[in-house]
Amino acid sequence: MIENLTLLEKAALLTGKSVWETYDVPRTGLRSLWLADGPHGVRKQLGSADHLGLGASQPATCFPTAAAVANTWDVELAEEIGTALGAEAAAQDVDVLLGPGLNIKRSPLGGRSFEYFSEDPLLTGKLAAAYVRGIQSQGVAACPKHYAVNSQELRRMASDSVVDERTLREIYLTAFGIVVRESAPRTVMTSYNLVNGTYANENPFLLGTVLRDEFGFDGAVVTDWGGSNDIAAGVAAGSSLEMPAAGLASARRIARAVERGELAEADVDARVAEILKLAAEARTPGTAPQVDEVAHHALARRAAARSAVLLKNDDAVLPLADGTRVAVIGDFARTPRYQGAGSSVVNPTRLDSFLDVIEDSHIKLMGYAQGFHRDGTPDAALQAAAVQTAREADVALVFLGLDEVAESEGVDRSTLALHANQTDLLAAVAAANENVVVVLAGGGVVETPWLARTKGLVHGYLGGQAGAGGILDVLTGVVNPSGRLAETMPLTLADTPTADLFPSHGPTAEYREGLYVGYRYYTSAGVPVAFPFGYGLSYTSFEHADLVATPDQATVTVTNTGPVAGADVVQVYLSRTSDGVHRPVRTLAGFARVELAPGESRTVTIPLGEQAFRHWDVATGAWQVEQGTWDVVVGTHVDDVALVASVTVEGTIAARRDDVPEVYRTGQVRHVSTADFTALLGRELPAPAASGPIGVNDPLSRLAEARSPMARGVYRLLAWRRDVAERKGKPDLNVLFILNMPLRAVGKMTGGMVDDAMVEGLVRLVNGHFLSGLGRTVAGFFRNRVANRRTLRSLRGDS
Ligand code: BGC
Repeated sequence: MIENLTLLEKAALLTGKSVWETYDVPRTGLRSLWLADGPHGVRKQLGSADHLGLGASQPATCFPTAAAVANTWDVELAEEIGTALGAEAAAQDVDVLLGPGLNIKRSPLGGRSFEYFSEDPLLTGKLAAAYVRGIQSQGVAACPKHYAVNSQELRRMASDSVVDERTLREIYLTAFGIVVRESAPRTVMTSYNLVNGTYANENPFLLGTVLRDEFGFDGAVVTDWGGSNDIAAGVAAGSSLEMPAAGLASARRIARAVERGELAEADVDARVAEILKLAAEARTPGTAPQVDEVAHHALARRAAARSAVLLKNDDAVLPLADGTRVAVIGDFARTPRYQGAGSSVVNPTRLDSFLDVIEDSHIKLMGYAQGFHRDGTPDAALQAAAVQTAREADVALVFLGLDEVAESEGVDRSTLALHANQTDLLAAVAAANENVVVVLAGGGVVETPWLARTKGLVHGYLGGQAGAGGILDVLTGVVNPSGRLAETMPLTLADTPTADLFPSHGPTAEYREGLYVGYRYYTSAGVPVAFPFGYGLSYTSFEHADLVATPDQATVTVTNTGPVAGADVVQVYLSRTSDGVHRPVRTLAGFARVELAPGESRTVTIPLGEQAFRHWDVATGAWQVEQGTWDVVVGTHVDDVALVASVTVEGTIAARRDDVPEVYRTGQVRHVSTADFTALLGRELPAPAASGPIGVNDPLSRLAEARSPMARGVYRLLAWRRDVAERKGKPDLNVLFILNMPLRAVGKMTGGMVDDAMVEGLVRLVNGHFLSGLGRTVAGFFRNRVANRRTLRSLRGDS
């Protein structure tokens, strides 16, 4: 097939034809492939296409977001959801589903936290691999994303993640390794950002050395939408498909680079082979069965119930007995927050609110009160009405959470606090009714200084279209909660390891906290938290006993010692007891979810294996296991160290004395000095923040400092639109995207209207070189149009 294609045809196959399609080659029978978001539901757009979920898309089941499902620690359920996603994608003739998202939650402020699983790479990798297996079982290619080290939304397309190699491998690449090895995804999406000075999509180390050579990935690498910088460099590094639609200028760029000897044709052929393999493995359109929407809605409800985490249950205020008279308070009970904003937005097949589903339960609704405005505007009358409603009930269910503006693709959170009008309301309701249960909605964690005011607390995260029913099932005991936090809930934002680092406002994001992400930091530094990683209560109780550990596995007997059936998540952590290289105090090494009837005992065996003990050894540039002793700790969360067994591991190297900055031993991780960080990196830090003229790789937010008054005006207009939208309670994703977008991406997103030469002209314009900028832009415009027409003619001729 490759031999039958001309160079231009091959080049065209490596760049998108439209927002969602690849090029076809009609004369060979090769059809276009259709790619669609996303991670928790299919978003196949019908009419005008955009990539941010602005235009309408075909209805599909909106499952709980990854941040929710991660709390289940349930690999089987994740695979079941993946299978349902794959079936829906197949039914809509989608060839590549753009998910799951598996970036590590470096900071709880990350705007896309709701789309990602966890702060822990093992939990992330295992769940994401299950999604991929499920999706691909339906003949649809999964596309795990965003590879790699893509942690912040601010400047997301123009930020350089500077990270030392040990941290890179142990924290940020591990989950991708698990996914590739355990589920063989047919595609992987690169992230927008640079990693240590090179765009992820052009990074031979990330794409070649690690992804293909070490992990064994043999599929197609796809850019994020607008994430290609130089397509020829991408192809050489191992990137197979530039999306969305950079137009034929990209095809010409590849062909020219080959003709000039800048790019090996063998590299082009290798990438084309990856696309052809993807096409060969795709299903024949129109052959997938219809989807059972009712069954998928039921699965979404089951998943939502399993995702909810019971964080507090004083005086056994939950579950609510039949006939309990409840007051339902809070705007989220009527208008649920059930998914995040951005490219992952699903047009749900149906949508339940708590007020809808409560009708079908055995608890008695005494009244509903909105309680607060979700945008934070205080309203004494709403609050007073809610207090009145609460007075008449046995239990007040108070639905609090994050509004639409608080978290979104394109914008990081600025606080972990709930709006003050919500916490004021809670205080007032708690004064009127001593039985308060708070139900939280939001894609991440919040500070809980108000915890003492509530007897019960359930975090439902963003539970998808059937989330309300899932919450009801947990509140009423139809489902015994088994969710366990997949991320730490800190006491305050100031306690987080990246408090003074995240998000980075300049061109580089320095990962100075190193390995000390999430619980790895809190346990090592002894920083108290509100709720530890792995924490979650149940309506029953479990006992762990008879731990037997070897370097290969941990075996433990779990007994349900309480009155009702329930599921426990047994968690195994490792803690090194011999001296050696520095490492976090405890790391997750395995887990198992066990369902038990009352009184039932079961012995579970959790494999550990060499990977659990390994570290990336900087001195030898390889994975090593240090000879020495370790504690195998089995508990119900990361701070539960009740059951411990010691094992001795032979290792691949002798134990080393630590040779890295003392700062990591004392827990002062947030204050790593520049000298220490440079030593960890093994090289100098990149040059400090860009100032002066605006370059092609600077985000459009820099137009604020442009020399050209017109460019500054454009910035002011964008910023005004952003602010107006936020005041109306819904972020303007287009504007957020544009502000974070580098000028170079203009050429990649406009369907071939703008080429690189025109971008150069635009850069001149914004820097105040009016005449030469305008000249280049206008001349470029006409040159590009003529060239596009010619290329199209020759492609049609070829075809
Ligand atoms: C997002 C991706 C998404 C793509 C297509 C990008 O902006 O980062 O996650 O798959 O758009 O919508």
